[in-house]
Amino acid sequence: MHLTPEEEELLSSDNETVAKCMEILVAIGEIYGADRLIPVKSAQISGVSYDNIGDAGLEWLEGLNARVRVPAYVNPAGIDVKRWEEMGIDSEFYSKQMRVLKALQRIGAELSLTCTPYYLHTPSFGDHLAWAESSAVCYANSVIGARTNRESGITAIASAIIGKTPCYGLHLKENRAPTIYVKVRNPNFNPSLLGYVLGDKIPGEVPLINLPRTVTKDELKQMGAAMAAKGNTALFHVEGVTPESGDFERPKEKMEIDLTEFDSEKCVPDLIALGCPHLSSEELREILSISSRFYPRKVRKEVWLFTSRKVYEENHEVVRKLERMGFKVFCDTCMVVSPSTSKYECVMVNSGKALTYLPKLRGVRVIFGSIKECIGRAFSDD
Ligand code: F3S
Repeated sequence: MHLTPEEEELLSSDNETVAKCMEILVAIGEIYGADRLIPVKSAQISGVSYDNIGDAGLEWLEGLNARVRVPAYVNPAGIDVKRWEEMGIDSEFYSKQMRVLKALQRIGAELSLTCTPYYLHTPSFGDHLAWAESSAVCYANSVIGARTNRESGITAIASAIIGKTPCYGLHLKENRAPTIYVKVRNPNFNPSLLGYVLGDKIPGEVPLINLPRTVTKDELKQMGAAMAAKGNTALFHVEGVTPESGDFERPKEKMEIDLTEFDSEKCVPDLIALGCPHLSSEELREILSISSRFYPRKVRKEVWLFTSRKVYEENHEVVRKLERMGFKVFCDTCMVVSPSTSKYECVMVNSGKALTYLPKLRGVRVIFGSIKECIGRAFSDD
C-alpha cells in the first residue's frame, strides 16, 4: 500500500497510540488490497456498552493517548446516563460505563450515544466515512449514498485518530453494484420484516429491490438495520428510490418474495420496546398519534422507547405527552446493548434487528409486531 511521507511519519510516531492506529489501518488495507488511505469526513465508534467490551475494552480505551482528527460519533451505551436507576442498572455497572464514556470524551469523541448519527449530522452523497454501527453503515451507504465499510470499534477509532481509512470495499464505486434483483410482491409488507427475511435469504449480497409501494426514510432505516443484523448487509438499493439505484445494470440473478406469513414466538410480553434503531422525531410523533386513539387510557405494561438525546430534546412536548400515558422514553442506550432488558421474559419489538439480537444477547423470548400492533398490545391486558 502506498503511504505518503506524512503517513510514514505517523507510522513511526513517538506517540504510541498514533503509531498503533496507523499500524491497524495499514494492516487492514493490506489484507483487503487497498492501494492507499483516503480521508474520511467522520468516524462512528461502536463497542461502547460496558456490557459488550468489559474490563479489557475499558482498559484499552483508557490507554489511548491521542485526539481524534475528524468528528467521531459514539454508539449507544449500556445506560441512559440520567435515568439509569429507573432502568434497574446497578451502581457498579454505572461507574464502569461512565469510565468508558470519559475515555471516549478524552480522545475528543462526541458523546452522541446513538446509532442514528445521521439525524444529528447528515453526511453528504459521496462522502467517505469510517462508521462501525451496522445499521448506520447500511443507512449511510444506501439511503444517503455516502461510502463506508462496516468498521469495527477499533478500526473506527484508528480512523478517527488518523482521519483516514484504507480505500477498499464500499469506498470503490465498482463494489457498490447490486448483485441480485429482488421483486417484492406484497404491497402490505412490513419493511423491518422484509429486511429480516432478505438478510436471512441472501446474506452478504447487495440487493436491488423493487418495492410495490412508496416507503419513508424511516422504513428504509428499519429495513436496512434488519438486513444488516441478519445478513451482514452493508448496502442495498431500492429501484427508483435510493440515490445510486440507477447507476448500475440490473443484475441477472433474480428472486421474488411474497411476505405473507411470519412465524413469531408465542408469549405474553412483559416489556414492549421500540426504537431499534433509535427513533426519529417522525416516529415519536407517529407513536403519539397512534396512542392518542386510546386516550384517556394509560399503557398496561412496561413500554420503553429509545432515542438519541438530541431527538429527545427536540421533541420535549411529544415526550412529555407519551410519558403521561405511561411510556418511558430513554436516551443514550437501547434494549439490545443495555443489560437492563435481561430481567424480562418476553419482549415485543417492531424491529428485525432487535428480533435477531435480543434472544442471543439478553436471553429473552421475542415477539414481533408492527408499530401499531406493539402499541395496541401496550394498551391491552394480554
Ligand atoms: Fe441501535 Fe441498539 Fe438497535 S444500537 S440499531 S437500537 S441494537
